[in-house]
Amino acid sequence: MRRILVTSALPYANGPLHFGHILEAVQTDIWARFMRFLGHDCVYVCADDTHGTPIMLKAQALKITPEALIEQVAIEHHATYRDFLVEHAVFHSTHSAENQFMTGQLFTALDQGGYISRRIISQAYDAHAGMFLPDRYVKGTCPRCKAPDQYGDSCEVCGATYAPSDLIDPLSVVSGTPPIERESEHLFFKLDRFESMLREWTRSGAVGESVANKLDEWFNAGLRDWDISRDAPYFGFEIPGYPGKYFYVWLDAPVGYMAATLALTQGPGAAFDAWWRADSRAELHHFIGKDILYFHTLFWPAVLTGAGFRRPTAVHAHGFLTVNGQKMSKSRGTFITGRRYLDILPPEALRYYFAAKLGPGIDDMDLSLTDFVHRFNADVVGKLVNIASRCAGFIARGGGVLAAQLPEPALYAEFAGARAAIAAHYEARDFAQAIREIASLADRANQYIDSQKPWTIAKDPNRLPEVMAICTQGINLFRVLISYLKPVLPAMADQAALFLGKPFSHWDEIEHPLLGSALATYVPLATRLDPQVVAQLIEADKTAAAAPVSPPPASVQSQPKSTPPVNTAAPPTPASAPASAPAPAEITIDELAKIDLRIGRVIAAERVDGSDKLLKLTIDLGSEQRTIFSGIQNAYSPEQMLDRHVVVVANLKPRKMRFGVSQGMVLAASGEGDGVYLVSPDAGGAAGMQVK
Ligand code: 2FM
Ligand code: ZN
Repeated sequence: MRRILVTSALPYANGPLHFGHILEAVQTDIWARFMRFLGHDCVYVCADDTHGTPIMLKAQALKITPEALIEQVAIEHHATYRDFLVEHAVFHSTHSAENQFMTGQLFTALDQGGYISRRIISQAYDAHAGMFLPDRYVKGTCPRCKAPDQYGDSCEVCGATYAPSDLIDPLSVVSGTPPIERESEHLFFKLDRFESMLREWTRSGAVGESVANKLDEWFNAGLRDWDISRDAPYFGFEIPGYPGKYFYVWLDAPVGYMAATLALTQGPGAAFDAWWRADSRAELHHFIGKDILYFHTLFWPAVLTGAGFRRPTAVHAHGFLTVNGQKMSKSRGTFITGRRYLDILPPEALRYYFAAKLGPGIDDMDLSLTDFVHRFNADVVGKLVNIASRCAGFIARGGGVLAAQLPEPALYAEFAGARAAIAAHYEARDFAQAIREIASLADRANQYIDSQKPWTIAKDPNRLPEVMAICTQGINLFRVLISYLKPVLPAMADQAALFLGKPFSHWDEIEHPLLGSALATYVPLATRLDPQVVAQLIEADKTAAAAPVSPPPASVQSQPKSTPPVNTAAPPTPASAPASAPAPAEITIDELAKIDLRIGRVIAAERVDGSDKLLKLTIDLGSEQRTIFSGIQNAYSPEQMLDRHVVVVANLKPRKMRFGVSQGMVLAASGEGDGVYLVSPDAGGAAGMQVK
């Protein structure tokens, strides 16, 4: 059994968690849950990052103390992570006794080791506000390209980097007055003393190759001393022995990982040492965004080493998240908060989507809302859950107990045998590849059921044992797949376990199929996402966008830094009338009897060139096949339609359309702004049956 401590970057306690935070937490959580599922002792700790100038100024603007601000934010962060099913062993705070204790201990050790130097530096000072100004709190005209309103460290227009004193007409962001230069003594960490250790650590497998190459660039540029102190007023920990001087937030932030561990182990001692001492045999994995690599791959391992602690086993960096191809931005409405999402959508849909897109590298990831809807609806609802729902009804009707044997043990063995490869993808954080392989197995499971046609066999009461055997096979294939997805979809897996009557307690458990046992009543495990609800993610936040109280802090030194309503069917379905339309005229039963409603099975589905609404469906009505154009493309992909049973108006006069002749109509339901939902028969309904 491995002992693994896992962290994700500590979010700043000055605002809500956004999709970037959620992406990282979900990535870390999936990995940690996977490790626990394998039976390892894996704990995931995190905390709020509470110190620094932006938090101090935000509290001032809100006319509350920084302590009150970070307390409020902690409650909100905690709840948001929890609701995304992110399972922290501890969610702590850098403004804690544990963190003050650890930071002090590290600093003393570094000082005694000769790794701290002192010197006087000159900095921008806001005499009006009575404070030194971080570079990002000075704005002015770029000295190179003359672009106005640029930050004090770099120009967003021409990319020049410079000191705040180089700006033309600089102004303090805090008071709007011109800053002056003022001297003060600062404490520095001698990073260059660790260069050879860092070069070796970098090539030990602790970081991926592209990150290692980036580090080489930094080594070649030369490692500079790191300024770890800030002058009052500053919200942070005062440096022992240096009244009026505070630890820079980026010194005590990663120490928060240790502080969270101290909270977990209830103080110092053997349990804490087993995680953090220099001779620890446990693993330490940090998950971060690529913008904070410098801190985690240079400063942090050097600080730990200098203070006599262990180094991280690995630092796993991910890329940035864009939404609909664009940088998240409040003005565009693409700055989506976790809470906004949770208010209208289920957490596991986003977990699944992130997993399906996350590779092991630092490539950026785009969240396309259309792709998100299709992915979840097609893969999870259409393929995975479909397997269980197709089989559950037959098993229930046949007595509710699984057959004693599988009809196709080799197929099962193939599914269960995929677990070594899938585990390797999870371990390597190639979740996208794991998901691809699981989705392709789900296709095979559906193909198996299609080829066996239990709905046809079920018509003959003498063949019940065959139906039970086929569906037992189907349920067992489903069990393997949902077990593979448990790290990604933990709640759905728990619900599936209740249905299956057996919890998933170990990754390897699915080696043996579930036979002869009773199933509980099947409750649908997931429902389709409505694209119109998903579209609200962006619309709503656009109006809620508020100007930030303070400018975004530069995180890394020396690093470059309403959709229209869905058209339901063509021609329009009876159910597509808006809720406010006048009630339709009464009809007699004889008139109703004129409508020939049949169950059809979709045997081919494709998008129609030149139409963004229509799908061209080929539908098997038992005795014949029909081509029907249906205006459901916004809600259903061709893949989702394939093999689906639908209700068809079979005697509707054929209608000539621009794209061909539509020979009937597929029934769907929709209300105003509520998306579109196909009407479909319960399990057992088969192509050709008449709807009565
Ligand atoms: O960049 C950030 O959002 C920081 N709050 C991350 C800190 S990670 C760790 F070092 F604490
Ligand atoms: Zn410029």
